[in-house]
Amino acid sequence: MTIPAPRSIRLDALAYGGDYNPDQWPEEVWAEDARLMVEAGVNLVTLPVFSWPLLEPEPGVWDFAGLDRVIDLLWEHGIKIDLATATATPPAWLVREHPEVLPWNADGVRLEFGSRQSYCPSSPVFREAALRLTRALAERYGEHPALALWHVSNEYGDHVARCWCPESARHFRRWLEARYGSIAGLNEAWGTSCWGQNYLSFDQIEPPRTATGPINPAEVVDFERFSSDALLELFQSEVDVLREVTPEIAVTTNFMSLFRELDYWRFADAEDLVTDDAYPDPADARAHVGAALNYGLMRSLKEGRPWLLLEQAPSAVSWRDVNVPKAPGQMRLGSLQAVAHGSDGVMFFQWRQAKFGPEKFHSAMLGHRGERSRTWRETKALGAELRRLEPVRGTRVRAEVALVADWDSWWGVTQTESMPSQRLDWLTEARAWHAAAFALGQPVDVARAAGPFGDHRVLLVPNLYAATAEQAEALDAFVAAGGQLVVGPFSGVVDHCEQVHEGGAPGPLRDLLGVEVDEWWPLPDGGQRTVELGGRVHSTRVWGEWIEPADGTEVLARFADGDLAALPALTRRAHGAGAAWYLAAGLDEQGMRAVLSAVFTAAGVAIREPDTALEIVTRTDGATDYTFVLNHGREARTAPRIPGGTDLLTGVDAGAGLPLDAFGVAVVAHPANRPANTERPA
Ligand code: GAL
Repeated sequence: MTIPAPRSIRLDALAYGGDYNPDQWPEEVWAEDARLMVEAGVNLVTLPVFSWPLLEPEPGVWDFAGLDRVIDLLWEHGIKIDLATATATPPAWLVREHPEVLPWNADGVRLEFGSRQSYCPSSPVFREAALRLTRALAERYGEHPALALWHVSNEYGDHVARCWCPESARHFRRWLEARYGSIAGLNEAWGTSCWGQNYLSFDQIEPPRTATGPINPAEVVDFERFSSDALLELFQSEVDVLREVTPEIAVTTNFMSLFRELDYWRFADAEDLVTDDAYPDPADARAHVGAALNYGLMRSLKEGRPWLLLEQAPSAVSWRDVNVPKAPGQMRLGSLQAVAHGSDGVMFFQWRQAKFGPEKFHSAMLGHRGERSRTWRETKALGAELRRLEPVRGTRVRAEVALVADWDSWWGVTQTESMPSQRLDWLTEARAWHAAAFALGQPVDVARAAGPFGDHRVLLVPNLYAATAEQAEALDAFVAAGGQLVVGPFSGVVDHCEQVHEGGAPGPLRDLLGVEVDEWWPLPDGGQRTVELGGRVHSTRVWGEWIEPADGTEVLARFADGDLAALPALTRRAHGAGAAWYLAAGLDEQGMRAVLSAVFTAAGVAIREPDTALEIVTRTDGATDYTFVLNHGREARTAPRIPGGTDLLTGVDAGAGLPLDAFGVAVVAHPANRPANTERPA
């Protein structure tokens, strides 16, 4: 796959708008929609995401009349289109004519039509039909002046990220053949001599359906890789058609934040603009912390370029067990948080609240009460405010800290069988590490394990279970050049075929970290173990290890009790101009903050009194910094003083420290290079 040069969205403003489903409304309503969109400051609308059955009512019969009218109407109102290829939902006729298009679960059960995404990613029948539709749309609307961006499919993997049907099995075999070359190669890589699994030919391999007992881990992890690749291949095939017909138009597919099932590094390489759908839970007082990490990933997927928040809820969603609305001000705050983290706009699901279907209780910009609804008032207000933030468009976020996300390790460590503990979860650990950096005041980028690491000073690796020599070399070079690297437990365990590294963990990271792992000591459920660090005792979570440091490796913390008492829990090894730290336990919140405080101090990265309610993020164009001060708390507070700064939202001078209401935000423009995110709040 060649990496395309990113094209830009054709929109000369921060994007504002949402998903629009005109098919669900009589045409009289469209004119009102267009008028109200203008009133709200909407300049971009996503459609027709789920309209395939209307665009192609019968096989090969096209009906674009309705879509023509709606696009023209919006364009007459100056609104541009994020044009979906509408391939996320095959029509009933396709599924009934070709039931083999339907996906199967691991138990071999075919998943019925009646929801959305009713397709197997590997189905040639589905692909052919989807590409026909993509081409028809590209040919029809490629020259339309309203076309700003291609929106391929919708949230790949949302409902169906893995398929175990016979077609997927055939595709999996082809994928394995390309990866291993020969069946002998596969037998060796998979270690099939264990439990008598040797294969004579690729034909004998099935995807890992529900089996008699634990399935070969190499097969399990290869199936994760394959399944991500199968959707990527489908995505790429649509991208190829779009590039052929409309080479100038930027392409995206909407991501789902830190989503385990798809390797977003690889997906981002195939598109021009990274877009994300973000649904932080208003009922979770810490949801903004997780959101910050998601947004760190989004900007990092394309080397710090701006991305776009393509979906968020104006208030409540309809798919959690309990769907709590956003409190007044919370939607604005969450929107501006995304902009702070590099999003060049704010988009919603959806424009007009549905009257029927599974999303009728999902909030919308224009709720069931229409112009009388609270979300409408807040939608209009935000649209107006966004225009004041125009100077931030195209600027980039400053971050000195990055966190490594590696999907191979994520898949490996979250296998549901045959692991030392089922309690170690990559995402939970990544979030815990990130939360400590957040509390200490540092925005965090996300990096690939093999780099590049840009000019980050600190690299956090909560877990790198499946480490390669290439990654180890890149991490080594980062430290040698002066970086502070922190690696978490259960790293460097296996290679990419689930084979344990010779000599044990941390495998290729052994010299750099200067430790050897003798045994893993996961915490039993309900068990307790503590670590003493800098005179304070911290409780541990989930994990512990018996490690032995090499000569020259400093021991900074030790287990304080239990079978591991007095053994090292945190080590540091100097290397070149930097240092490599190893943490042999899951730590509680205070403990993680203590570790990162020490690391940040060693790196010359500023820290503040821990605070999870105040977030300060700076975007810059090199000459002017735009410092977003976000109060995620329900108490009013004062923003730090930023001399020479002016709040773009209010025009108020920020020199004396701005008052921030509960959920308040200030966006302070000031001359670049002031370390604004290091100042203490007044
Ligand atoms: C997304 C999806 C949208 C809508 C939304 C509701 O996952 O892309 O189509 O269903 O969720 O929150």
